[in-house]
Order: sequence, then structure tokens, then C-alpha cells
Amino acid sequence: MLSSLKVRHFRCFDAFEAEFAPGANFIVGPNARGKTSLLEAACILLRLQSPRVTRLAHVIQHERRGLVVDGFFAQRHMQYYLSRERKKLALDGVEQKAAREYLEIARLVYFGNRDIELVRGPGDGRRRFLDFTAAQLDGSHRRALRDYERALRSRNLLLKAAAPRWREIEAFDEPLLAAGGRVAEGRGRLIRELQEPVGAAHAAISGAGEQLRIAYVPGCGEDFPATLTAARKEDARLRQTTTGPHRDDLAFSLNGQSSALASEGQQRTLVLALKLGAARLLEGYFAAPPVLLLDDIFGELDLTRRAALLAALPAGAQKLITTTHLDWLPPDAAAQVLRL
Ligand SMILES: Nc1ncnc2c1ncn2[C@@H]1O[C@H](COP(=O)(O)OP(=O)(O)OP(=O)(O)O)[C@@H](O)[C@H]1O
Ligand SMILES: [Mg+2]
Repeated sequence: MLSSLKVRHFRCFDAFEAEFAPGANFIVGPNARGKTSLLEAACILLRLQSPRVTRLAHVIQHERRGLVVDGFFAQRHMQYYLSRERKKLALDGVEQKAAREYLEIARLVYFGNRDIELVRGPGDGRRRFLDFTAAQLDGSHRRALRDYERALRSRNLLLKAAAPRWREIEAFDEPLLAAGGRVAEGRGRLIRELQEPVGAAHAAISGAGEQLRIAYVPGCGEDFPATLTAARKEDARLRQTTTGPHRDDLAFSLNGQSSALASEGQQRTLVLALKLGAARLLEGYFAAPPVLLLDDIFGELDLTRRAALLAALPAGAQKLITTTHLDWLPPDAAAQVLRL
């Protein structure tokens, strides 16, 4: 568990420190007090990624050079410094050149009040969820993604040239295909392994007899090398790589019907099941539940659903839960409360 968290020059916080207990921890405060920011800090400390933004520099407090997040997870001292010029990582006081060992310490699942975008929004949110989870199961997924993005950027840059030179562009096809294959494999495996726990979580919280299925929709068809060659004309016309894992998607269906037709409540239940399924999968892999960060997701649920969701969360997991009001908390809930 995350036992303590310190932040400096992080969003609205000049400096702030918190201690957390095992089990449920409620972070309570009015709007704009920094509740979401605190969960974001925990996520950045443990996984070096923000659930809100892709560019971490946005998180540095305005007019400051850099931020620090610092904390203890399972007695390991984790520290991260980030400025616009550089970043620094340390584990137990020892600076880390690579993030590999650092990222093997902690796993987490983030539940946000904008998760419904995973059903309704564009594919990049779904790819981000898949990659965030896949990288926790297997650290090499992160490297595959980085290699793929690098090859893709270079290839796209060449395609933007006034007169694209195919000899040069082709030179990037091989690394693109190799890294793309690894990315697709990691995502595909994750989706196969999520199928069962996501279905079970959905059955537990929906109460209805609906069956939720998830499916991988590869952005490069069945055969990436063949589609990449076939897409050349299109790539030249649009001046970018039009096929590949950067176009991957994740599709949901309820009783065989596309989630686009599902009601609002069904869509909310669906994303909760997806996140709970990810938590169960991580718990099974590492024989310990991930930390659960729950940002303001109880607010819009009725009392029965709140209770059902609380009961469906992995029992042994540490949970950091933000809320503006605590009046809905069941009186018997053993919980630590942090007021902002
Ligand atoms: N980089 C930044 N530097 C300084 N302040 C920031 C930065 N980014 C965000 N803020 C401010 O931090 C404050 C806290 O935001 P946060 O989203 O954490 O609040 P919250 O407590 O979750 O609110 P709500 O209940 O509305 O969700 C906001 O007023 C926001 O404007
Ligand atoms: Mg918030």
C-alpha cells in the first residue's frame, strides 16, 4: 500500500503531505480544493503517468520550475522530480537511470468520473487504458510503445515532405512493423485475459442478465505488413501513416449489441466493469490487489449502486476515494478520512 505521499509545486499545491491507511481512505473537500490533483499525484508517483493529461509538464504548478512527488509504497521510497528540462527518478534514495525497476513496485487502477468517455469518446482514450494496464502486466509493453511511436513519428515526418522519397520511408517500415507487432500482441493478450474478469465484474454490478463482451479491433487489419504496403497510395495522399496500432480500438457489446446503443446507465456500468475487471486481473497476476484510485465516481450513483460498487471492489485493496460529501458513507465502513 501507499503509506505516505508528499507533493511540492504540484498543480494547486505548494507543498502538501498525507498519510494513508490500508483499506478505504476518503479524501473530502469542496470543489477545486485539489482532490483530483492528489489522486493524480499518487498515480504519477507510482506509474509515472497522469490519468488526466498525456503531457506531464501541465501538472507543474504555474510559474514553478519543477514538481516533486515523493512517497512510500510497501516500504520502498519512491521519488520523482520533473521540470520542463529534465526528470529524475529515485528508488530508496538511489537515482535510477531507467524506469524499469521503479515501475515494478506498484500497480493501480484509476476510476474517474470521465471514464464514460471510454465508451463514448474517441479511440485514444481506450488505447491509453489498454496500454496503462498492459504496461503493468508486462514492463516490455512500454518499451514496445515507445519504439513504435518513434518509428511512426519518423515515417510521418518523411511523408510530409514535398516529394516523399519512398526508399527512405521504407527504411522505417521494418522497425514500425516490428514494434507495432509487439504493441498489438500486448494489447491483444490483455483483451483476451480481461474477457473473463470483466464479464464477471459486469454480472456482479449490473444485476441484469446481460453479457458484456470486449473485442480487439486492430488498426492494421489481420496482416500489418500487407496492409502497410497496400496503404501506400493513401499514406502519400494524406501524408501520414494511415494503418497500424495507433488506429487500434476496443469494442464493447452487451448481449451482442454494440455499446453505442446502450443506455447511459448501462454505459456507466460497462466502464466500471472494465476497470474492476482490470483490478481483478492485476490482483490475479501479482497475488496482491492493485491500489484503487476512485475519483468522485460515487456522486452520481444511487445508494444501492454505491453499496454494490463498494462491495464489488477487491476486498484487500487499498482505496483512495475522493468525494465532496461524506453523508452517504455507510456508518459501519471502516475508513480513514482526510479533509482538504
Ligand atoms: N498547473 C497548475 N498550477 C496551479 N494550479 C492548478 C494547476 N492545474 C490545476 N490547478 C488548479 O488546481 C485546483 C484544484 O483542481 P482539482 O481538479 O484537483 O480540484 P478538485 O478538488 O478535484 O475539484 P472538483 O471537486 O471540482 O473535482 C483548481 O482550482 C485548478 O485550477
Ligand atoms: Mg476533482
